[in-house]
Amino acid sequence: MKYVWCMSLVLLISGVIACSPTHDLFCAAEQADDFERRAFGGRLFDMWYDEIEESFIPDDPDTPGVDGQGGPHGNGTLNGADGEPIENTGHNYRLKNLFGWDMRGDAGIYGREHQAKPWVLQTGPLSPQHAGATRGFWVAALTNGNRGLGIPVYGDVLLPDEIGALVDFMLAVRDGQLPHPDDLYALSGEAPKGFILAPGGDAERGHRFYAAQCAECHGEDATKIIFDNGEQSLGQHARHYGYAIAMIALSGEPGSEMGAELSLNLTATEQTSALLDLLAALCDRERYPRGAGTDPEVPDGDPRCREYLR
Ligand code: HEC
Repeated sequence: MKYVWCMSLVLLISGVIACSPTHDLFCAAEQADDFERRAFGGRLFDMWYDEIEESFIPDDPDTPGVDGQGGPHGNGTLNGADGEPIENTGHNYRLKNLFGWDMRGDAGIYGREHQAKPWVLQTGPLSPQHAGATRGFWVAALTNGNRGLGIPVYGDVLLPDEIGALVDFMLAVRDGQLPHPDDLYALSGEAPKGFILAPGGDAERGHRFYAAQCAECHGEDATKIIFDNGEQSLGQHARHYGYAIAMIALSGEPGSEMGAELSLNLTATEQTSALLDLLAALCDRERYPRGAGTDPEVPDGDPRCREYLR
């Protein structure tokens, strides 16, 4: 509400006075813009084609023909930097698949020692190999593709502003202006799905946050919407894939009415603790049961939720 009020006032006044960052009101509006833009970048990172006007349906990797829609060939593929289409091996051209949610490519959550997704690229923006890479480097890599890194050409399907928002999101995670994966979970070769949530989450605070920010749509016990063709409630999804829940709560669910769910004025550290609190809360199997979800519940002693598991 505050945001809407502030934006209307800014729209009203900005015709008369140029936006000055020294003025509190304009600062607040700029901050809101930044927040929304990063969240948009995060949703593009997750599933860009659910966020844009243009229709793109990735080629179905399980059928023999190339039968998607949209993109430079009109068949649901994207080109590589050499101008030849890159095959959809199951990544669906989503950056969260190519880089992994933690943007570390093969060394990360989707890499060979964790979920071993066959399509994950060697490296991503959070890999030590790219520690010093500039915004310009990543904008060029996404716009024109990058042959060495295996990145498709997104410049054919995304506008420069969209690619900019996407890159700014990734670099904000890398540089600690948004919650960093290392502060949310640790990678583990032993835990199912390759992760263990970080310590320090406060489940009581998380329950309050859930009730305030999520219950309206997902229901008091998080079973109102069942994901993935009826397989998992939100609680179950968090116990299985906590790392993804954190990123989706941070940026919103692409193409749905769910936007960024954290409040605007938090520092990255505060955002991280709010997300950890939420994840700790969702590890309560009684309070957030599987409902009509068909996937089995995580067993007692499952390491992912650590001592948060109830
Ligand atoms: C305004 C309504 C609304 C609010 C508020 C909301 N969600 Fe959602 N959420 C949705 C809808 C709609 C979807 C898409 C469901 C689908 O794809 O079937 C969704 C999807 C998700 C997904 C994606 C699951 C997947 O398919 O991978 C997660 C995770 C999620 N929500 C978590 C949360 C959390 C955590 C909160 C609170 C911090 C929250 N949501 C608040 C409506 C909402």
